[in-house]
Amino acid sequence: MAKQEDIFKNVVSHAKEYGFIFPSSEVYDGLSAVYDYAQNGVELKKNIREYWWKSMVQMNENIVGLDAAILMHPTTWKASGHVDAFNDPLIDNKDSKKRYRADTLVEDYAEKLNQKAEKEIEKAKARFGDAFNREEFVTTNARVVEYLSKKEEILARLAKGMTDDLQDVKALIEELGIADPETGSKNWTDVKQFNLMFGTKLGASAESAMDLYLRPETAQGIFVNFLNVQKSGRMKVPFGIAQTGKAFRNEIVARQFIFRMREFEQMEMQFFVRPGEEMQWYHHWKETRLKWHLSLGLGKENYRFHDHEKLAHYANAAADIEFNFPFGFKELEGIHSRTDFDLKAHEEYSGRKLQYFDPELNENYVPYVVETSVGLDRMFLAVFATSLQEETLEDGSERTVLKLPAVLAPTKAAVLPLVKKDGLPEISKKIIEDLKWDFNVAYDEKDAVGRRYRRQDALGTPFCITVDHQTLEDETVTIRHRDTMKQDRVKITELRGIIENEVSMKNWLMKM
Ligand code: GAP
Repeated sequence: MAKQEDIFKNVVSHAKEYGFIFPSSEVYDGLSAVYDYAQNGVELKKNIREYWWKSMVQMNENIVGLDAAILMHPTTWKASGHVDAFNDPLIDNKDSKKRYRADTLVEDYAEKLNQKAEKEIEKAKARFGDAFNREEFVTTNARVVEYLSKKEEILARLAKGMTDDLQDVKALIEELGIADPETGSKNWTDVKQFNLMFGTKLGASAESAMDLYLRPETAQGIFVNFLNVQKSGRMKVPFGIAQTGKAFRNEIVARQFIFRMREFEQMEMQFFVRPGEEMQWYHHWKETRLKWHLSLGLGKENYRFHDHEKLAHYANAAADIEFNFPFGFKELEGIHSRTDFDLKAHEEYSGRKLQYFDPELNENYVPYVVETSVGLDRMFLAVFATSLQEETLEDGSERTVLKLPAVLAPTKAAVLPLVKKDGLPEISKKIIEDLKWDFNVAYDEKDAVGRRYRRQDALGTPFCITVDHQTLEDETVTIRHRDTMKQDRVKITELRGIIENEVSMKNWLMKM
């Protein structure tokens, strides 16, 4: 089995074993692509949300928050284009009756070519050692050139087929000999579009019930409230509205754990600007959002921009911030310059004006919008998977440590009495009583102290505070740092300052 797959499996099982994420309704064998956040997961998720909210809302005078309802008037989704165009191209296998996303089948095929090229590159690297020049090898080795150019050709044809002719996507699948990944059958139906929105009903009786949708993005709640917020908050363009909340998509290829879920959470911000100034703001937000990600210290090499060449009909620029997940680089956040498309569409469908009077220009206009949209669950996966590490220690033993950014860790410190007697538990509890006003702290007295350290390492707790017999004499404790395992002897009264320094959002956000 590939190493990547092992790492990913480990992430999923660690998340369950240590109370971060459980499959939804597991007693009934779970519900596909739906997950529950457990006692530690809910804290980590909350901290990521807060870290985003603080940087977007609290730190920006001209950005305010909103919490719009999940259920919205159904015309919203007609205006936004979701009723007509929020589709995935699906293909069924006639023999296995299994359903797949046609574009994913082709992308997976292209990825295999990529992996073949990478294998050749790795082999050559091992052969040539320090003298190896990757760039030269990739452009001159006949096999690698063939794999990579075939990959590009396939992806270009897929992109064209997706917009111009779905029949050509089917033709491509057949030409490439792509088989049902589960059964090997190549007996495919035509490719058809499938709308991803979940429908529901409002009202008691079948006759009077109104068809609604569970929102597939939080953004439309912001658009339809644009003027309410602008007027009641006396906001001046440029200004932003930020929101976090649940979104729902009936994803067909729902796999990769919490990467692609049917119920997930978004953190979105719509920034309203003067027409003509959107590109400058688009670049501003691209850079600002990348800096926010980098401030968490997960490694610069794990992020890259993917600028969209083919744009959605409403956008005049778009980019993804991609992250190096355990299964490769994939979209983590989208930054989109959405023009005035959404506000104009809501004007048209509602018959109400959604315009801003600009006192400096002395004119009315529909603002342009730059959007930043990041999946909270994807952020969780990025942080969690990158932080989960196996280490071999100097004495040859192994430890599993979750090196979460301390600012996001569910529990900031665990207080451990060395033994369960001699008054040590009482002092430990007193320390907790004092610290818990400011931090999430845990108490643990079970097992030998070494095992307790390992348990806290696996939970990502940045500090372990050990109360021992010396504490009785001089009111000092040891404080152990998760990442270095270094232990310092400090006064109990110093604990708050030491912890605060490591976990304060201010200190982390200042790195932006
Ligand atoms: N308002 C713009 C919008 O919704 P999107 O690219 O469809 O754009 C934005 O979604 C972000 O939401 C993505 O970058 C991703 O992080 C997250 N996301 C989208 N679909 C998701 C899913 N099925 N499961 C988890 N996260 C998802």
